[in-house]
Amino acid sequence: MTKHFLSLQDFTSTELTGLVDRALELKQQRRDGVTHNRLAGRIIGLVFEKPSTRTRVSFESAMYGLGGQVIFLSARDTQLARSEPLKDMARVMSRYVDGMVVRTFGQDVVEELARFATVPVINALTDLHHPCQVLSDIMTVVEQKGAIEQLKIAWVGDGNNMANSWIQAAARFGFELALACPEGYEPNQEILGTARSQASKPITVVRDPAQAVQDAEVINVDVWASMGQEEEQQERLRTFSAYQLNDALLALAPKTVIVLHCLPAHRGEEITNEVLEAYHEVIFDQAENKMHMHKAILETLLNPQA
Ligand code: CP
Ligand code: NVA
Repeated sequence: MTKHFLSLQDFTSTELTGLVDRALELKQQRRDGVTHNRLAGRIIGLVFEKPSTRTRVSFESAMYGLGGQVIFLSARDTQLARSEPLKDMARVMSRYVDGMVVRTFGQDVVEELARFATVPVINALTDLHHPCQVLSDIMTVVEQKGAIEQLKIAWVGDGNNMANSWIQAAARFGFELALACPEGYEPNQEILGTARSQASKPITVVRDPAQAVQDAEVINVDVWASMGQEEEQQERLRTFSAYQLNDALLALAPKTVIVLHCLPAHRGEEITNEVLEAYHEVIFDQAENKMHMHKAILETLLNPQA
């Protein structure tokens, strides 16, 4: 059976912890000048239907860093743009490459590709999940705080793809998660229900950002309008105005709190320039960690015996 990575539910707690440990080890090895060629002769295809800076470059540099190669395809330049069925795309790509990294709109797209692909399909962001990002964010928390299980993590803003993946992460890693979202912008209820049934600590959704950040050791924020929601931008600016991470909100959290932002950031909206710059070291470590985590994921899925 080909193993895919479409959401954090696809891996057990032990497997996810193993990926975090391995990514931290790979980061240290890169610092020490240790190189690997574990994926020499392997090729991944990146199929992206939405823009990307970090995820694309970090997957590409991860693959090159492991001795492999990549083919980047903007979906609009493929026959998908002329309605070639996903099931055909999946079977054709499987004959050419050893793995597919896909960024798209519907989760059903990555699911359909995975159903027909005979090589691993990796979710590089859908409207529903951003699992690779949240896994590298957890690596950043472990790097900063030593461990994650004992912490309260806060999410402030939209109950979007990132929020959904954080919810699944809470169930798998066993930390407390408090999300503050405006009415009508809550995370996916099915994902929330499943995660709560598996979780050992509370996963709460509240309205008040102050309540979410109280006692939190990590505060996560993300854009108010995700890719594909550009037309809602003005309305969202109004709805989310009380959800900005600024000095006043930050002051309600412990002094030891860290701020995470998966980037790109809209300064003056979900986060002030002051708060982002005050935490720039950890936020850009967070961006760097995507590459180390992608190496760990690629090693595991493309070379499980290694
Ligand atoms: N954080 C993240 O996924 O960034 P990109 O959209 O630049 O890939
Ligand atoms: N929620 C954002 C994340 C960007 C990395 C989006 O989907 O656009």
